[in-house]
Amino acid sequence: MERRTLGRTGVDVPVVGLGTWLTFDLADAQQHVADAVVDAAFAGGTRLVDSSPMYGRAEGVLGRALDSRRPDAFVATKLWTPSVSEGRAQLNSQLAHYRGRVDLEQVHNLVAWREHLDWLEGEREAGRVGYLGATHYAASAFPELARVMRTGRIDAIQVPLNPRDRDVEREILPLAQELGLGVIVMEPLGGAGSLIPAPDPRELEPLGVATWAQALLRWALSDPRVTSVIPATRNPEHARENAAAGSPPWFGPEERRLVEELALGR
Ligand SMILES: NC(=O)c1ccc[n+]([C@@H]2O[C@H](COP(=O)([O-])OP(=O)(O)OC[C@H]3O[C@@H](n4cnc5c(N)ncnc54)[C@H](OP(=O)(O)O)[C@@H]3O)[C@@H](O)[C@H]2O)c1
Repeated sequence: MERRTLGRTGVDVPVVGLGTWLTFDLADAQQHVADAVVDAAFAGGTRLVDSSPMYGRAEGVLGRALDSRRPDAFVATKLWTPSVSEGRAQLNSQLAHYRGRVDLEQVHNLVAWREHLDWLEGEREAGRVGYLGATHYAASAFPELARVMRTGRIDAIQVPLNPRDRDVEREILPLAQELGLGVIVMEPLGGAGSLIPAPDPRELEPLGVATWAQALLRWALSDPRVTSVIPATRNPEHARENAAAGSPPWFGPEERRLVEELALGR
């Protein structure tokens, strides 16, 4: 699988990662579901995994699924609270789940970003956190996200990008490129609960991919400003299929346009 550098950090990660929203909020008896997904994703070359305290039990489930593979993983997770003391508690519980280090700590939905960045910079100095980031899913928050990016205090952003949600192309992706920030793409398949419906498989023939999910992942990865995509799944077959989308050839303008037309049902 191709690797790309996460902005100016100099760290490189394989381009297809793994999200955990909804899919990894599992009871103990269902841990095997996440284990099988992580097995399949890692077998396909995936290394970047993403979670959040907002995702119910997902952080603990992910930590157990990674198990001895933790040193090979790049763990991106988030803080999601207006309170600094609760943020510190969230980090402490993450350090327990992920063997003493979070590779990328992101401020989820920009909640109390100034307050959190103040103390997170100290955690980065201390090495418990590798890099800092910020995430938002809504275009209405992008002006605020751009402000955070311009402070020079974060290394990466996480934003939505798929053929039906391209708002980031206007200002956020050009700004990320100018500032040298990593870009992690959430909702690359359209988002949980709003998956972009698949066209007739024969329509995929000119794209050289086996499945619609692979077409959507390659569409996002064909933008060189994107560092990685993080599709979520509970299905090991899907994890395998998604990982296999992470190798060139990338789409050119014509192939991208075809995916857009198929996604918009034209
Ligand atoms: N910070 C934020 O505000 C924010 C917001 C949204 C998402 N995120 C992050 O981004 C990740 C990805 O976004 P998302 O989960 O909303 O949406 P997504 O990855 O675009 O779509 C997830 C859905 O796609 C299905 N799927 C996955 N691979 C597939 C395949 N090969 N074929 C067919 N269906 C497939 C999954 O169902 P199956 O289980 O059936 O495969 C799941 O229901 C999240 O998990 C989370 O880590 C962050």
